[in-house]
Amino acid sequence: MDTNEFDFENRIMNTGYTAEDSDVEASLRPKKLDDYIGQEKVKENLKIYIEAAKQRNDPLDHVLLYGPPGLGKTTLSNIIAAEMGVNIRITSGPAIEKQGDLAAILTNLNEGDVLFIDEIHRLSRSVEEILYPAMEDFALDIIIGKGPAARSIRIDLPRFTLVGATTRAGQMTTPLRDRFGVILKLELYTPEELATIIRRNAGILGMEISDDGAIEIASRSRGTPRIANRLLKRVRDFAQVRGNGEIDSNIANYALNRLEIDQLGLDNVDRKMLETIIKFYEGGPVGLETLAATVGEEAVTLEDMYEPYLMQIGFLSRTPRGRCVTRLAYEHLGLPYHAPRPTKADQISIFGEEQ
Ligand code: ADE
Repeated sequence: MDTNEFDFENRIMNTGYTAEDSDVEASLRPKKLDDYIGQEKVKENLKIYIEAAKQRNDPLDHVLLYGPPGLGKTTLSNIIAAEMGVNIRITSGPAIEKQGDLAAILTNLNEGDVLFIDEIHRLSRSVEEILYPAMEDFALDIIIGKGPAARSIRIDLPRFTLVGATTRAGQMTTPLRDRFGVILKLELYTPEELATIIRRNAGILGMEISDDGAIEIASRSRGTPRIANRLLKRVRDFAQVRGNGEIDSNIANYALNRLEIDQLGLDNVDRKMLETIIKFYEGGPVGLETLAATVGEEAVTLEDMYEPYLMQIGFLSRTPRGRCVTRLAYEHLGLPYHAPRPTKADQISIFGEEQ
């Protein structure tokens, strides 16, 4: 294996799971659609598309999965490959730096394979251009030579399925988004769905867990299986050292309080965000960048990881002029409520003219 090949295999591609994933993590991931809990609409539709493609002996049309992080986009793409009976190659937008990187990946695919590109919104424009004919015509257009002698040759590719995943569909270019035949939005999970996932995974890990223990963890997992699994493992540690090894609602409650995760699943960053808007910006509106700088987090982190849940539980509203905290959030934090600052636009509508 020469150095380039070695570099290519290690840096760009990953045929299994990412380095963060331990074997335990991999064992928790469902392998079949029927074992995948929640996302019912997505699952029902995918089942039809997969069955139809298999009946026609076609590869599945390209699939775009979007939604907040931790909801199972990678898991779902592995399931798609397994249900189609094909191999999966896993990479990500920022890992594909050059056109040649993507060309190498595409020419190494086999007929029907799934190519999973995580964070697909982070592909560079020049790499995206290679992707268009690949997705549309299963062809690679390569320019050979430079200047007046340059000519383009077309190489046929195996028919493959691109599964793209993104937390920010809005940041994708329209030409790329339009080339996906199937676009699926993943939603935050209900506490009941999360409790089912927790019970299933506790079983796989050989843990005893009561129904109310599972609900306790689920209702504090902010709609996200990745968080539920992480909390399950931490609660297990407390159950093992401070309890009798079994997880019930008492030990779950004790462990989650020690982790400073409150009854609704809010952690220190959530609380700091809400309190910052209340204390420094009178409840809002405040721009995302200003808020991020004050809280000491990156704007994308707040937007991708914190806001979806805070909005889902009705604690935060996003307005064109910035973020506002709602009355519910004041009540949860035990702070006296102030109505949001009137803005220029509000003053115009109240007083009929600008004050
Ligand atoms: N583990 C993570 N996400 C899951 C899901 N949706 N169903 C079952 N197990 C999971």
